[in-house]
Amino acid sequence: MTVIARKVPLLDLQVQHRQIRDAVLKEVIRVVDSQKFILGEDVKKLEEEIAAYCSCKYAVGCANGSDALVLALMALDIRPGDEVLTTPYSFFATAGAISRVGATPVFADVDEQTFNIDVDRMKQVLAAHPHVRAILPVHLFGGCADMDPIVAMAHERGIPVVEDAAQAIGSEYKGRRAGSIGQIGCFSFFPSKNLGGYGDGGIVTTNDAALAERLSALRTHGSKKKYFHEWIGFNSRLDALQAAVLRVKLPHLDSWSQGRQKNADRYRARLASLSIPVTAAKAASYQTRHIYNQFVIRAERRDALQAHLKDQGVGSEVYYPQPLHLQPCYAFLGHRAGDFPVSEKLAAESLALPVHSDLAREDIDYVCQTIQGFYA
Ligand SMILES: Cc1ncc(COP(=O)(O)O)c(C=O)c1O
Repeated sequence: MTVIARKVPLLDLQVQHRQIRDAVLKEVIRVVDSQKFILGEDVKKLEEEIAAYCSCKYAVGCANGSDALVLALMALDIRPGDEVLTTPYSFFATAGAISRVGATPVFADVDEQTFNIDVDRMKQVLAAHPHVRAILPVHLFGGCADMDPIVAMAHERGIPVVEDAAQAIGSEYKGRRAGSIGQIGCFSFFPSKNLGGYGDGGIVTTNDAALAERLSALRTHGSKKKYFHEWIGFNSRLDALQAAVLRVKLPHLDSWSQGRQKNADRYRARLASLSIPVTAAKAASYQTRHIYNQFVIRAERRDALQAHLKDQGVGSEVYYPQPLHLQPCYAFLGHRAGDFPVSEKLAAESLALPVHSDLAREDIDYVCQTIQGFYA
C-alpha cells in the first residue's frame, strides 16, 4: 500500500472560505433578508469596483464568463457570416461564444512559451481571411497575450478586439490591466478563478459609454426601458447574492494573487535546480503582472506523471487535453491533427500544478520532490 506523505489538492476552496466565512455570511444574510435578488445596489457597486480594479470606465455584470463573451460579440454586432480570429488553445467557451452568435471561429496557433496566440501566425491568418470581423485573444492562465501587435493589426483592419480575460483579473500587459486594452474585456467569477464567486458569475468591462449601455441592455433581453426592446438580447444577469459575496472577496484579491506569484517563483526556482524533462511556465517580459490562475508545466510522459502525482496525494489538471480545432463539434471546420502543431504539443505536455495562495512552502517542495521522484 502506498503511504501518502502529504496531500496537496489542486485547489482547496475550504481554506479560503474559512478566512472570510463570517463576512460572507453576514452579507448573504443581508441580501436574503432584503429579498432583493435581481441586479440592484450590490451589483451596481460591484460593477463600479471591478471597473476601477480593471482601470476601465464601465463594467456590466452578467451570469457567467461564457455569456460575457457572447454579450461582447453581440454588442459589437458580430453575426452569421462573420469570422472571429482566436486561439485553438483555450477553454471551449472562447470558440463556443463565437459560434453562439452564428459566426465562425478562425484559429491562429499559439506561442509555446506563453500558451497565448502567436502574433506572427495571427498576421498570416488575418491576411488569408478577409471576413474576420473581430479578434478574440485569450489571456490564458492569468498572463496577458501580446496586445500591442494584436491591437495594431485590428486597428489596421478596422475591427474590434475582445479580450477573453476570464482567467486574468488584475493581470497586466506592460502595466495596463487586462480588460482595459481591447474594446471589451470579459471576465469569469467561476469559483476556481482568482476572484471566484459562490456559484457562477461574470462581468464585461469597457471604456466606451455606448458599448456599456448596449451590454447592459443585452443582458436584460435588449431592453433599456422595461418591456421595450431595442435589441434582441437574453437573460444574463449577475445575482445580487453573488455580487455581495464578490464584494467581500475583492479587497483580498491582490494578496491572493501575490501569494500565487510567490508560489510560482518558488516552483520555478525549485524545478530549475532539478535535472528533469520539465519546463516551468515563465512570464514574458510584456506580462508585467501575471496572476497565475494556473501554474502550468510542460512535461515528458505527462499522463504518467499526473498519475504518479495523484498516487502521491498531489492534485493536478490538464488544461486542455484537446485543442479547439480538434473538438468533435468543430469537425465541420475541416481541421486535422497537425494544423496547429504548437497547440497540439501543449495539449499533450501541459500540466497545471497547485498554485493557490494557501499553499505552504512545504507543499510546493513536496510537489517538486514528487515530480523528481517520477523521473528518477
Ligand atoms: C478562457 C476562458 N474563457 C471563458 C470561460 C467561461 O467562463 P464561465 O465558466 O464563467 O462561463 C472560462 C472559464 O473557465 C475560461 O477559462
